[in-house]
Amino acid sequence: MGMAVMSKTEVKPYDVKDLNLAQEGKLRIEWAGDQMPVLAIIKNEFLKTKPLKGIKVAACLHVTSETANLMRVLKAGGAQISLCASNPLSTQDDVAASLVKHDGISVYAIKGVDSKRYYQHINWTLDCEPNITMDDGADLVTVLHTKRRNLLDNIIGGTEETTTGVIRLKSMEKDKKLMYPIIAVNNAKTKHFFDNRYGTGQSTIDGILRATNVLLAGKYFVVVGYGWCGRGLAMRASGMGAKVVVVEIDPLKALEAVMDGYEVMDMKAAAKIGEIFVTVTGNISVIRKEHFNLMKDGAIVANSGHFNVELDLESLAKMSDKRRKVKEFVEEFSFGDKRVYVLAEGRLINLAAAEGHPAQVMDMSFANQSLSAEFLVSAAKELEKKVYDVPEAIDKEIARLKLNSMDVGLEKLTPEQKKYLASWHMGT
Ligand code: NAI
Repeated sequence: MGMAVMSKTEVKPYDVKDLNLAQEGKLRIEWAGDQMPVLAIIKNEFLKTKPLKGIKVAACLHVTSETANLMRVLKAGGAQISLCASNPLSTQDDVAASLVKHDGISVYAIKGVDSKRYYQHINWTLDCEPNITMDDGADLVTVLHTKRRNLLDNIIGGTEETTTGVIRLKSMEKDKKLMYPIIAVNNAKTKHFFDNRYGTGQSTIDGILRATNVLLAGKYFVVVGYGWCGRGLAMRASGMGAKVVVVEIDPLKALEAVMDGYEVMDMKAAAKIGEIFVTVTGNISVIRKEHFNLMKDGAIVANSGHFNVELDLESLAKMSDKRRKVKEFVEEFSFGDKRVYVLAEGRLINLAAAEGHPAQVMDMSFANQSLSAEFLVSAAKELEKKVYDVPEAIDKEIARLKLNSMDVGLEKLTPEQKKYLASWHMGT
């Protein structure tokens, strides 16, 4: 029997690599789920209260085992979900297959797709005519606001997972182009304090090691950008014995890095001594031609910021006499008597070559996603077309639940202390 031809109004049901991978994916999703206790509590609550009943969610997130658990929570809350990847290299194909086969979720994601198919996946996801968007990097929201504006009327609100997405959305808000309220999940403390710092810190190193298996001890390890991700990465690289060098443009962050014990210098100086470079700035062309030219033979370059634009790979390709793949996720660029190795085409190294953040931190990030979706359903009418922070009550509740799940006790204020903290009369 030939493949059914889709009519114009028909929605493509899914697009994944191979449904036969579903069983493997199922086990992987369960493994992650066991380490996401806060999300499990929310799921139980959602099963009872069904806060997302009748709501269609279009999600554009890294299709990993942790995301699969979030999708299951939204489904437990009554939502109908379409999911695509937020990066061409971040999909776990077995997880995508399992979500389709075992959870009835429409997934459009295949690891390694080209840019055209990547955007095709976003478009298929949007075909569900969503009421809520859940984005990571704002690609889906951008397509919606440019090419699919006819769908805007159905939307009550959205959420955004990462720093880069929040920056893009704030710029849309400033230009008065944002057409519905979006909750900046990234800005919750229970998100960026942990996910960006400890999650990116550990998993970026994991990605570099899986791709290269180089020894970090004694190496000059250059961290470009000392924000939440950069701090975590520097801390973990240093813990493995690397000599960490930080490059920053912000004087406060640079000063913090100095006092945290790292060498701080500009990109040109770092280019000369670095042996491993990782960008985590959310900015464009932070390592470019002039820097590649100064690097030592054998330098390894990776990016863990949201987009691969942090590395000017076009210039590197142009200046190179030769390029070849030396092993999976490692490409060698040769020019003069030098070789520079770029990992995973400059895409988020932790998701491309490793498995992304550990489930324990995604537990909190995705608890924020689920509770923000619930919040949107109840409060969207009162919100303006702006980027909002996650309500503080949600942030605190997630921290409390996480501590509970870890069996960590909290001290309580005595009545005297409460009074003292609220008054100005008492001195020494
Ligand atoms: P952040 O805003 O806390 O830090 C970025 C830092 O880069 C800032 O301190 C800024 O001053 C610095 N910077 C900007 N341009 C620079 C330049 N040309 N040279 C040196 N430093 C420069 O942002 P955060 O949360 O650390 O995120 C960074 C990037 O990582 C974003 O693209 C974000 O979306 C992404 N991200 C990636 C994750 C992953 O799984 N790999 C997880 C979380 C965030």
